[in-house]
Amino acid sequence: MNDEYRLRMEAQDLTKQPPTEEPERQYYFMKKCQEIVKKKSEEMGRPLTFSLTSFGCQMNARDSEKLLGILEQIGYEETEDEHADFVLYNTCTVRENANLRVYGRLGYLNTIKKKNPDMLIALCGCMMQEQEVVEKLKKSYRFVDIIFGTHNIFKLAELIVKRFEQQKMVVDVWEGTDRIVEELPSERKYPFKSGVNIMFGCNNFCSYCIVPYVRGRERSRSPKDILEEVRRLADDGVVEIMLLGQNVNSYGKNLKNPVSFAQLLKQVSKIEGIERIRFMTSHPKDLSEELIEAMRTLPKVCPHLHLPLQSGSTRILREMNRRYTKEQYLELVEKIRCAVPDISLTTDIIVGFPGETEEDFQETLDVVQTVGFDSAFTFIYSRRTGTLAAKMENQVPEDIVKDRFDRLLAEVQRISAKVCGRHLHTTQKVLVEEPDDHAEGYLTGRLGNNTIVHFPGDPSLVGKIVDVYLEESKGFYYMGRLEC
Ligand code: SAH
Ligand code: SF4
Ligand code: F3S
Repeated sequence: MNDEYRLRMEAQDLTKQPPTEEPERQYYFMKKCQEIVKKKSEEMGRPLTFSLTSFGCQMNARDSEKLLGILEQIGYEETEDEHADFVLYNTCTVRENANLRVYGRLGYLNTIKKKNPDMLIALCGCMMQEQEVVEKLKKSYRFVDIIFGTHNIFKLAELIVKRFEQQKMVVDVWEGTDRIVEELPSERKYPFKSGVNIMFGCNNFCSYCIVPYVRGRERSRSPKDILEEVRRLADDGVVEIMLLGQNVNSYGKNLKNPVSFAQLLKQVSKIEGIERIRFMTSHPKDLSEELIEAMRTLPKVCPHLHLPLQSGSTRILREMNRRYTKEQYLELVEKIRCAVPDISLTTDIIVGFPGETEEDFQETLDVVQTVGFDSAFTFIYSRRTGTLAAKMENQVPEDIVKDRFDRLLAEVQRISAKVCGRHLHTTQKVLVEEPDDHAEGYLTGRLGNNTIVHFPGDPSLVGKIVDVYLEESKGFYYMGRLEC
């Protein structure tokens, strides 16, 4: 697939001024950058290397594949660790500890850079959209070379060229954007599965959450561009796709010709070669009957729904600006289970939101027990500057939050160990993902409902969908054997 992009890059004429139109402009800079990298690599007598680390969610992971695609076109070679000529961190700022990790690792990078002064350090992603972060980096982390945000990742090649030309820190962070630049290279982590952005940004402003501030307003890609991308992926051997957005259930509402997410699912389903369709994330307030019906009737749509609860207390949900009640959430779960009885439900939960009492917390435990989630990501509330909740006065003391968190985690694990094994002694379709890390001769794959299974098999099966008999349940995963 990237051959086509290489040709577009090679067709650029560097004796002319850079084009003003995107993405042509970026192909021009990729070519220019490629020449610089080639020259440097000849001087050094070795290829130039890069290391890219992605923090945060699937959205960032997908952005990183695009960044990787550009770096590879330019001619950098990937290395395992951060002893590289170009180190890029795609950052997350959803919780404070995500930020702290980046600062910690920057200290380490500085020691490496002292030994290799030609090394370039670049930071992008959500954390860079925060003004205080950029100020701090400019002041105390002068060794960082390039800083850019979430709205202009497509400009990576242009920014590297600029850094080579001006020999000082390049900062390019946009406050927001309404544009979506299509048709740039990207490099997939797995040849057989891929994320596909269907929308960017978020308009929900849950009161604890920084994402709308760092990812900007909701923008949907056109169905035509999405379908075109999925078709290309299918032609390239992809069998499973994950449609990505902060709130896929509101997909298409702001398009010139509005399309619903369920309609999009139907169209994607028709694409030959695609066997499995997943999506993330669904906001409960926007989950329509039409979507439930689509999940029930479209066989390629996997029987898995990630439905973030955040809290089981209606009072806290109101403070969080989630716009559903405990009862509405439970009703929704019932409707979904009625339509797709075997569905696997997973969720996100925050403990210690400002003003959360023991009674509120008990409501959360109650929902966890009533629903019986296959798994739940549990988070300690983190105060994010700029959000509404950060200004709330009744922040919950740390020791109380920690105690609730431990109790919640124990309950979540107890329940998921109980419910995850419900397909024991059945044969299931499994997408083989990789050779098992821990056991020689074994493979690791996923059921449609996202549960992991390990079984003996040949690595040539990676990327194929096979029948596996589930012999033993280990709580969160199965051991199985291939069914011939
Ligand atoms: N768009 C998705 C979530 C994106 S962030 C959705 O609406 O579900 C992923 C998860 O991080 C959230 O579901 C929430 O549980 C958690 N999270 C977000 N902000 C947080 C904060 N300030 N403190 C703790 N957890 C947070
Ligand atoms: Fe954050 Fe809420 Fe948007 Fe999810 S829906 S990204 S939690 S503001
Ligand atoms: Fe983090 Fe940004 Fe995702 S803040 S969770 S990487 S959208």
